[in-house]
Amino acid sequence: WALFADDIAAILELKRRRRAVILAHNYQTPEIFHCIADIRGDSLALAREAQGLDAEVIVMAGVHFMAETAKLLNPEKTVLIPSLQAGCSLADSITAENVRALRRAHPGVPVVTYVNSSAEVKAESDICCTSANARRIVESLGVERVIMIPDEFLARNVQKETGIEMITWAGHCEVHERFTPGEIRAWREENPDVAVLAHPECPPEVVAEADFSGSTAAMSDFVARGTHRKVLLVTECSMSDNLAASHPAVDFVRPCNLCPHMKRITLPAIRRALETMGHEVTIPPHLVAGGRRAVERMLAA
Ligand code: 13P
Ligand code: SF4
Repeated sequence: WALFADDIAAILELKRRRRAVILAHNYQTPEIFHCIADIRGDSLALAREAQGLDAEVIVMAGVHFMAETAKLLNPEKTVLIPSLQAGCSLADSITAENVRALRRAHPGVPVVTYVNSSAEVKAESDICCTSANARRIVESLGVERVIMIPDEFLARNVQKETGIEMITWAGHCEVHERFTPGEIRAWREENPDVAVLAHPECPPEVVAEADFSGSTAAMSDFVARGTHRKVLLVTECSMSDNLAASHPAVDFVRPCNLCPHMKRITLPAIRRALETMGHEVTIPPHLVAGGRRAVERMLAA
């Protein structure tokens, strides 16, 4: 931790001076997550907490679509993303024109869009969802078919749970698509007492091998209940690191995959963002109303 002390002290001082808050996703490294973040959580919690914050500046320790969501909900605040390279394979998989083409091909079918998407895609959508509320949002529409984009695996996992037909898009999370059922079975054989928790961005065949599937916050809650001494989190590596710091009695089995985008956010990058007030995230004016409506409908549902 001594390595980080200088940056941490500087960031704490800059936060005060700039009237800034730092929102950190569960996939941020422990020195960010535990030492400088004001608000921590999954995509849903970060979107909720971003609403009406008492601050002038929001620094998103997460990826670009999360910063855009924070900006949609806080148009009057300055929103910073410490690295412009913090993207997302899901958000990059689809454009607004792709959504318009899906609507033309399936007239009248509602579009449910995972928050892991750009503001232009959100603006074409009826409602957003996250992995924490996808099932509830889809069921709340009271229809038999939905267009669920861009995560094919999340859509197929929700279809399995709800029986509602999904028209999908071939977007995948580059972190979760790499897990395989064989890999999970091998880890279970070596650790027969382990509880396996898989994120719903994993392929359905992988989720089928798990004892539990849920968002990163749902995984944290599961671990906090203390019912299992050994857990395997089938997700991004920093999840286990962050939970291990708060739950020393739990043994984390660690086959994990790194998200290169989340890892672009570092203490020096956050310090630089607060020193230079870069990189500011803005939403083109013609996308603000539509994007905000889709996110607010989700939060109100
Ligand atoms: P949640 O934290 O909402 O489960 O999302 C996981 C993720 O991959 C975010 O990029
Ligand atoms: Fe995107 Fe997957 Fe990285 Fe999350 S973990 S930001 S879904 S690539």
